[in-house]
Amino acid sequence: ALVSMRQLLDHAAEFGYGVPAYNVNNVEQMRAIMEAADKTNSPVIVQASAGARKYAGAPFLRHLILAATEEFPHIPVVMHQDHGTSPSVCQRSIQLGFSSVMMDGSLGEDGKTPTDYEYNVEVTRRTVDMAHACGVSVEGELGCLGSLETGEAGEEDGIGAAGKLTHEQMLTDPEEAADFVQKTKVDALAIAIGTSHGAYKFTRPPTGDILAIEQIKAIHKRIPDTHLVMHGSSSVPQDWLAIINEFGGEIPETYGVPVEEIQEGIKHGVRKVNIDTDLRLASTGAIRRFLAQNPAEFDPRKYLKESITAMRDICMARYEAFGTAGYA
Ligand code: G3H
Ligand code: 13P
Ligand code: NA
Ligand code: ZN
Repeated sequence: ALVSMRQLLDHAAEFGYGVPAYNVNNVEQMRAIMEAADKTNSPVIVQASAGARKYAGAPFLRHLILAATEEFPHIPVVMHQDHGTSPSVCQRSIQLGFSSVMMDGSLGEDGKTPTDYEYNVEVTRRTVDMAHACGVSVEGELGCLGSLETGEAGEEDGIGAAGKLTHEQMLTDPEEAADFVQKTKVDALAIAIGTSHGAYKFTRPPTGDILAIEQIKAIHKRIPDTHLVMHGSSSVPQDWLAIINEFGGEIPETYGVPVEEIQEGIKHGVRKVNIDTDLRLASTGAIRRFLAQNPAEFDPRKYLKESITAMRDICMARYEAFGTAGYA
């Protein structure tokens, strides 16, 4: 059944677990997520980005997610719109039947330019008014995703601020977060702690100076009743990077957010953990390996099945690691 984000995250807070939120673009990802949820008895958050809506078409995505609730009626599913760039984008998703939307007012309507605080409060508050009238939850974002290592915003996949950011912009301030939540009434708050979207988050395994888990603790202390969201939370599995490169890929050395650091965040108020890149890496690695090892095969179902299995195993591992398993 479709559930609201608020309902699910309230439950997660009560029982102290986190929920991975997986981006979905196609039927293989959807199957991988649902099979993993079914095997581990986990509730599901699936989210559609603007890129996903462009790729698959909003009606296809909507029916893909509804199909999941039909085939797996015992699994609660949140249908979430990721990174909305304006209240009207969010409004269209609400009309389409999404049970949750993200109004990312940390960036302007171009999805690239950092905004000022008052703008963010205004667009987020308006979206909350509209969404709550329809029983839909809202995630807001305060602070910009970006690399504390290089000062670069992580805009590699087109989502995120462009160019240079200050250290201050890349770390959400606890006092400002308290004011933001009070003024907007968001159901969940995405925070900036040094992560960025995509595979190129860190040039070395991250330490506290470039992945600010301590900041989560300070924010949670100040607003203990607010559900926190970590974006850019792929772990960038080294084993999948190695497989991709073994079978013709060329991905340079890079590191993601270690699962243990996410677990530490979950102990301090993180309830939603956004993951897209890890499934992309696993899918690409599995397909590259299959095609290299089976050069005569041409039935897409053969290699896409490998993709589903690889993504499913990542999803299962995250459901177990974040404590989601068993709570469907
Ligand atoms: O927000 C970032 C997600 O990884 C979605 O990426 O815009 O390429 O679908 P996308
Ligand atoms: P990753 O690129 O780390 O998977 O993050 C995805 C995300 O934050 C989607 O909103
Ligand atoms: Na989101
Ligand atoms: Zn994101």
